[in-house]
Amino acid sequence: MQPATRLSASEALVESILGRYSGVDMILKDRQSNDIARGQLTKSLPAILPILSAKVDAILSEKLPYIHTDHVQMSAQKLVSDLVLRTTLLSFVGPSISEDVDFQHAVQGYSRHVRDTALLLLLVPRFARPLLAPILPSTFGIRALHGYLRRRLFAEVDRSMPTVLQHYIATSKPLDEKDIVAKFPVLVSGALHTMTQGTVQALIDLCAYPQYISDLRQEALRCLDTHNGPWQLCQINELVLLDSFMKESQRHNPPNYLSFNRIATRSLTLSDGTHIPKGQFISMPAGPMALDADFYPEPERFDMHRFAAAAPSGGDGDGDGTERREREFVATERGNVHWGSGRFTCPGRWYASAVMKVILAQILLKYDVGFPEGQTGRLPNVYLDIVVEPNPRQQIVFKLRE
Ligand code: HEM
Repeated sequence: MQPATRLSASEALVESILGRYSGVDMILKDRQSNDIARGQLTKSLPAILPILSAKVDAILSEKLPYIHTDHVQMSAQKLVSDLVLRTTLLSFVGPSISEDVDFQHAVQGYSRHVRDTALLLLLVPRFARPLLAPILPSTFGIRALHGYLRRRLFAEVDRSMPTVLQHYIATSKPLDEKDIVAKFPVLVSGALHTMTQGTVQALIDLCAYPQYISDLRQEALRCLDTHNGPWQLCQINELVLLDSFMKESQRHNPPNYLSFNRIATRSLTLSDGTHIPKGQFISMPAGPMALDADFYPEPERFDMHRFAAAAPSGGDGDGDGTERREREFVATERGNVHWGSGRFTCPGRWYASAVMKVILAQILLKYDVGFPEGQTGRLPNVYLDIVVEPNPRQQIVFKLRE
């Protein structure tokens, strides 16, 4: 692994979406957002997960009402994006703002503005970009969002639960509201898109491999056995089969076809003699690696137990759970760069994994899920540049369980 002083992940991200023109380059300034995601947010999971779990339950009842029918058909993307948006905003700003529809729309608009800025500027020569960027409608949109966030977030900070906003305030010394409102939407948007796509892919796989549903549901029932309330982190951590199912779903449907994007900040030569000149953009073929028999036996087969096999009870390790941890959804093994790799590996993955499990476990407990009548397999994923999206036309049939 090359040191960060030679390969920069943040610069690669900023360069690939021309982030210096949309303010995404704020993440280059320091490690505050990374430290919050990896540190305070992850540590707050035992306190916030039951609150998020109750919210997931309420959203499911609201979105899937069974007043006149015994089943509801709904777009997987639409349902999951609402669940992820509202639970994530709850963790970021607390209950008093997260349910405000204007606030939700404002935050969602950010990634659209960043995308529009990049798409327009990519059409013009490099020298013209700094001249054109300040007068783009999307630049005005981002400036307006920053102003709105500043007015909205700091007027009255919700302290009824630990939130990402509170962590920003606590670690910003002296308090710099302008700096926080520039970083805040970058972190939220990164969290929303990746978690939504991963959860939709897993939900579609539940329908594509219905033979696994019964075992997954039994596991969820067992973990909730002693306690009928919202999910606690310790119970979520017991969902070994669901963890393995999600990892297998991610292996088959990686969020990005290419990952581990880096820019060489200095020239370097790898151990096999490959020379990488300064400024060179490099990447790894995440999609093909995930289906390479050198890394995964029978790689084309979807096997829910693939990563669950090394659980401490059945494993041949020393029983301290190390082997299991190395195969968890949040772990990165050889062949897996879906969370990145090395010191830049996604710092939000423990949060993402816990929230995605709450959503999927709640769906399994409350509903029977399946494809609409006549559909027997997954609709093909959609490839947008290096991004792999679940098919946006996929509908899911939800039947309320007794
Ligand atoms: C399924 C969900 C997610 C996936 C698949 C994912 C994937 C990734 C990947 C591939 C990277 C680049 C790592 C590298 O280049 O080595 C990354 C970076 C990052 N992710 Fe995630 N992510 C997810 C969720 C989240 C969440 C929920 C948060 C925040 C709460 C988050 C915060 C970040 C940050 C701050 C970075 C930049 C790390 C750095 O530059 O050091 N991610 N993520």
